[in-house]
Amino acid sequence: MTKAEQIGLQDYLAEQVQIVDRALNDWVPGDKVEPASIHRAMRYSLFAGGKRIRPILAMAAARAVSDSPGGVEHAACTLELIHTYSLIHDDLPALDNDDLRRGRPTCHKVFGDAMAVLAGDALLTLAFEVLSRLHGVSADRKIRLVEELSRSAGTVGGMIGGQVNDIEGERRRPTALLLESIHRAKTGALLCASVRMGAIYAGATEEELSALSEYGEHVGLAFQIIDDVLDVEASSEALGKTAGKDQAQQKITFPAVYGLARSREMAEEERLAAHIALRTFDDRAERLRQIADFIVYRKA
Ligand code: IPE
Ligand code: IPE
Ligand code: MG
Ligand code: MG
Ligand code: MG
Repeated sequence: MTKAEQIGLQDYLAEQVQIVDRALNDWVPGDKVEPASIHRAMRYSLFAGGKRIRPILAMAAARAVSDSPGGVEHAACTLELIHTYSLIHDDLPALDNDDLRRGRPTCHKVFGDAMAVLAGDALLTLAFEVLSRLHGVSADRKIRLVEELSRSAGTVGGMIGGQVNDIEGERRRPTALLLESIHRAKTGALLCASVRMGAIYAGATEEELSALSEYGEHVGLAFQIIDDVLDVEASSEALGKTAGKDQAQQKITFPAVYGLARSREMAEEERLAAHIALRTFDDRAERLRQIADFIVYRKA
């Protein structure tokens, strides 16, 4: 697709959200399927209007390496299952203790702590069931996708590892080194895996995969820098989650360590580095370039 043929970014994002939501709806049991309470809790948090940036990145990365990566939305939606689980658990009283998420009361506020823990567990488990059941994907490729998703959500440099450092960091002196390691792990790893999974799904060469991984690392870090900046600058209404929480909980964040202006500059540096990582790609990577801009310039 040439630049001229592309629809505007907002329309493209809205269209991609619908594709992701349809795939999710195919896989998550209906809210009347027994035990109905858990399916209601899973669906409540999942279909509450997230940006779907991780699956969208996966689908855009697949299109950067192949014109017709059929069915990629099913692999991509597993990233959203993991992400939503991480949000439900992040909001629990034992972690960030948040009342508001995606513009609604948090899962545990509506369904109770026990059901929220289980809804998170169930979304996590479902992600791997979906990967194992992908149609028309070789066993080898499925295993590579499982490895990407599990490692990026795991304890060594992955999402859980980052959450551990984030929680333990509440009692520690903020340092630049600790800050970057928290952010790369708790958010960056899953964003980078999103790009890599899309590329792997579409049969990327090693060279393509390595360039896309570099892109993924830069957008991943930029994403959490901006999440921290918006926590300071935006309203709860705009964010759909409680603003100003990081300072209240003494989190180690980019604004806490560098201040707001420098944090924005650093996000901009990551955005530019993400563009540079895509230099060998043609117009098929245009959406990835636009998504890097969106991640840094978004208002929520
Ligand atoms: C918020 O993620 C939590 C982080 C990892 C920074 P998103 O900003 O992607 O949240 P949704 O999915 O759009 O609600
Ligand atoms: C959460 O980071 C990262 C996750 C793995 C869920 P935050 O705690 O900053 O996310 P928000 O601001 O509550 O969305
Ligand atoms: Mg948190
Ligand atoms: Mg939080
Ligand atoms: Mg945050």
